Amino acid sequence: MAKFLFVTDLDNTLVGDDQALVELNDRLHQHRQQYGTKIVYATGRSPILYQQLQAEKNLLEPDALILAVGTEIYINGNDSFDPTWAEKLSEGWDRNLVLSITDKFPQLQLQPNSEQRPFKVSFFLTQEAAVFVLPLLKSELLQSGLNIKLIYSSGIDLDIVPDRSDKGQAVQFLRQKWQFVAQKTVVCGDSGNDIALFATGSNEQRGIIVGNARPELLEWHARHPADHRYLAKNFYAGGILEGLQYFGLIE
Ligand code: GLC
Ligand code: MG
Repeated sequence: MAKFLFVTDLDNTLVGDDQALVELNDRLHQHRQQYGTKIVYATGRSPILYQQLQAEKNLLEPDALILAVGTEIYINGNDSFDPTWAEKLSEGWDRNLVLSITDKFPQLQLQPNSEQRPFKVSFFLTQEAAVFVLPLLKSELLQSGLNIKLIYSSGIDLDIVPDRSDKGQAVQFLRQKWQFVAQKTVVCGDSGNDIALFATGSNEQRGIIVGNARPELLEWHARHPADHRYLAKNFYAGGILEGLQYFGLIE
């Protein structure tokens, strides 16, 4: 056994089955002690919503946290996000300009204040409306010269973030910082904002899709098959354990 870089989404990936979570936590904690494996959570949540979940589910303390769909990276329990990463994102980003355009779309309903972040503007948008709103909104935003991308998840959440930012690019930043090869990096997810985790980086990087994954991720996976991506049968943390064993990362 050797150390690896373990990256997982939280809602409906790591969290969802309390019993399986206890077992996985146990294994990961031991692996970290014994081999120096690094644990990273990559979530759409803001710091406030992350702390709520952390307290509720008694999550292991991570070595780094990727919050707000990759727009904020917190290393080693640091209270403020990594400034190097923030600087990369600030170029060409203009929150107010984004808001002045999204204002014209009555179908977009702003998410709570806590989820509006320096490099992330988030809305609720129904699946029916998304079909016509997303392409229109995207072209209006790009026409105004903004360097952004739209990330739509779970048939309801729309995040607008800098183009250079998503969970996948944040992982590559950590991978380089900590010098993990792609073969010893594994990412786990269940929904739309996790696609970037699987799509970014070398195709040698390991990926685990949990058995309960949402249709948007399963459809993407079907269109972009890859040898190093594993679709688990088990759900939530149970699916992660199954995948880690499949790749021989744990016993
Ligand atoms: C989390 C965040 C929300 C975001 C969603 C999808 O639920 O709280 O703001 O839209 O993830 O990324
Ligand atoms: Mg999720």
